[in-house]
Amino acid sequence: MEITINDNKISYHESGEGFPLVFIHGFPLSKEIWQPQWEGLGTVAHVYAPDLRGFGDSQSVPGTYSMESLANDVASFMDGLNITAPILIGLSMGGYIAMTFCRRYARWLSGLVLTATRAIADNDAGKADRDHLMAVTKEKGVSAIADIMLPRLLAPKTIRENATLTQSVRSIIEKASPDGIIGALGGMKERSDSTAFLQQLDLPALIIHGTDDQLIPLKEAEALAKAIPSAELKVIPHAGHLLNMEEPAVFNDAIKAFIKKF
Ligand code: MLT
Repeated sequence: MEITINDNKISYHESGEGFPLVFIHGFPLSKEIWQPQWEGLGTVAHVYAPDLRGFGDSQSVPGTYSMESLANDVASFMDGLNITAPILIGLSMGGYIAMTFCRRYARWLSGLVLTATRAIADNDAGKADRDHLMAVTKEKGVSAIADIMLPRLLAPKTIRENATLTQSVRSIIEKASPDGIIGALGGMKERSDSTAFLQQLDLPALIIHGTDDQLIPLKEAEALAKAIPSAELKVIPHAGHLLNMEEPAVFNDAIKAFIKKF
């Protein structure tokens, strides 16, 4: 399915019946990472999952994709599809976008799920890594980014034992456009720290994190859970950064339990 928002063609998945859930993917991924969720939650939830601009089947545009501009895309997406009082679920960069969304639009939501993400901004080493990845994209292309990102995105055990999942994450990354990758890296590099804002957030929140996340350590999820007054923390053993794909049943059960609160 496709919708035009803020002059960009945005591709999205929609299926299921029940509580509205809006899933925002991480970097450099697409809506396809949420397939285990639309397959596993369709009897209890109405699942929406857009491809962010520059990723998956959505249109790509040059320039920096600030977290504010991506959060505005999410707001226009919800508005365009008349999605009312959903739970917003953001993974990693999707979490940065969800936190940014909440700064302006928290009242639109019933609840917030932040998964495999963190409140803090990039430090100097993080910013240098963004510059390096931008240079690799320009010089070597998207498949070189897949080579670098796969061991960050998946737990070592997943890469050793699940060749099918590893290959499908590679295929998802390879659909991203160079403009999308460079635009999102620039936006993440300049994003601000959300910790102080989250301390004021008056919204039911769930934090889900894998013990074997190679990209964002578990202590960042503990800090998020401490910052948000209402937050509960669900830790998934042996899961990496793509915990929703690596441990879909446990992840989906956590979402189902959260929906029951509403
Ligand atoms: C993501 O998984 O969305 C990103 O890699 C997170 C990041 O690089 O900060």
